[in-house]
Amino acid sequence: MSIWSPTSWREKPILQQPTYPNKDELNRVLQELKNYPPLVFAGEAQRLKSQLADVVEGKAFLLQGGDCAESFSEFHADYIRDTFKALMQMAVVMTYAGGVPVVKVGRLAGQFAKPRSSDTETFDGVTLNSYRGDIINGVDFTTEARTPNPERMIKAYNQAAATQNLLRAFATGGMADLHQVHKWNLDFAHKSEVSAKYEKLAEEIENSLNFMQACGITSKTHRNLKETDFYTSHEALLLPYEEAFTRKDSITGDWYDTSAHMLWIGDRTRQLDGAHVEYLRGVENPIGVKAGPTMNPEDLVKLCQTLNPNNEAGRMNIIVRMGANKVGEGMPKLIRAIEKEGMKVVWSCDPMHGNTIKSSTNFKTRPVDSILTEMKQFFQVHKSEGTYGGGVHLEMTGKNVTECIGGSFNVTEEDLSSRYHTHCDPRLNADQSLELAFLIADTLKEAKR
Ligand code: PEP
Ligand code: CO
Repeated sequence: MSIWSPTSWREKPILQQPTYPNKDELNRVLQELKNYPPLVFAGEAQRLKSQLADVVEGKAFLLQGGDCAESFSEFHADYIRDTFKALMQMAVVMTYAGGVPVVKVGRLAGQFAKPRSSDTETFDGVTLNSYRGDIINGVDFTTEARTPNPERMIKAYNQAAATQNLLRAFATGGMADLHQVHKWNLDFAHKSEVSAKYEKLAEEIENSLNFMQACGITSKTHRNLKETDFYTSHEALLLPYEEAFTRKDSITGDWYDTSAHMLWIGDRTRQLDGAHVEYLRGVENPIGVKAGPTMNPEDLVKLCQTLNPNNEAGRMNIIVRMGANKVGEGMPKLIRAIEKEGMKVVWSCDPMHGNTIKSSTNFKTRPVDSILTEMKQFFQVHKSEGTYGGGVHLEMTGKNVTECIGGSFNVTEEDLSSRYHTHCDPRLNADQSLELAFLIADTLKEAKR
């Protein structure tokens, strides 16, 4: 294989990139970004990798979730707090009811760039560039907004840095304390059935904590009760940006992408000879690869060989996103090919991207039923193959949005217009996410038996 460098991806064919009108401006911004401090440290990415190695062995479960696309306009502390709370709530359900430790990874603090099915969009006879995420261009349908602007990378970096800072504070400064378990239940969700189920579980946890306290085990004596590890991730799509944050770890001499702990390659940019695979093969972070219905076993094996030549456990996360009723046919052959090679991977289920439909009211939506069905089928296939379905990858938010239909509040097609805020794909709200967490917990509990 040819020699890797942080810029070797530039020699390969690349998809899904913007065309910046002013190259000098682009180079000036990239030069500036190269001098900015990293957002994460190599040691943290290594720690995540070792926790993912536990997932490979079936000793832990990976929960990865957050926005489809973060946006400049929705940037707010309350918003970050609510997504954090929703993830904590799901994690505690899986840990307590499912009986396994949960590795928590947000689609946060850098999830800005989006692949699109078409380069352009036409409205009323006017054709403009497609929106590619706030790090690239604006969502408004005007020539000005849709022109890629490199300055947006600086704004995205600053937003990611502030988000990362708040997440670190939440994870270690008291918000993640298990004694807060009741407070993670988001206010709006209080009336639903699943929320009542959560309150009951929170009560049990509180009783256990009281018992432990009487035995002398408190958050003061045990750091684990009040702090958690919380990691960040995004799709490594906009490679000039990722290149600017590719830094050599001074301790090991290895290269890391310091824009997030974990990076993934999208279903549209996973070509073996393409730029995205070339870039990610050279950094030591844990990485994900999306596997849609067109992924074939030979390519998946080659991808693992290229991206993880030493078969290091915790490095590769295969994120299957086939759609309800497609995993049964599509996934067994992938699992068998990986098993035959003895490859150590985390298998995650993304039940979102294969289940997107247009509602009769003309909104892009996803039925919660299809999402739950795909999750169940994912676990069933792993059970019958004798392998471990060890993770879930979700588009979700802690806000009371109405973007996916169904769930215990029963969001209808008519409701979609009331709180539809996503800049890209429809997300589960906190209530719908919690419902999914209970389903996963049941499955994990059963698997343990
Ligand atoms: C995504 O995760 O937002 C995404 C675009 O996924 P995929 O590459 O699987 O389509
Ligand atoms: Co998406």
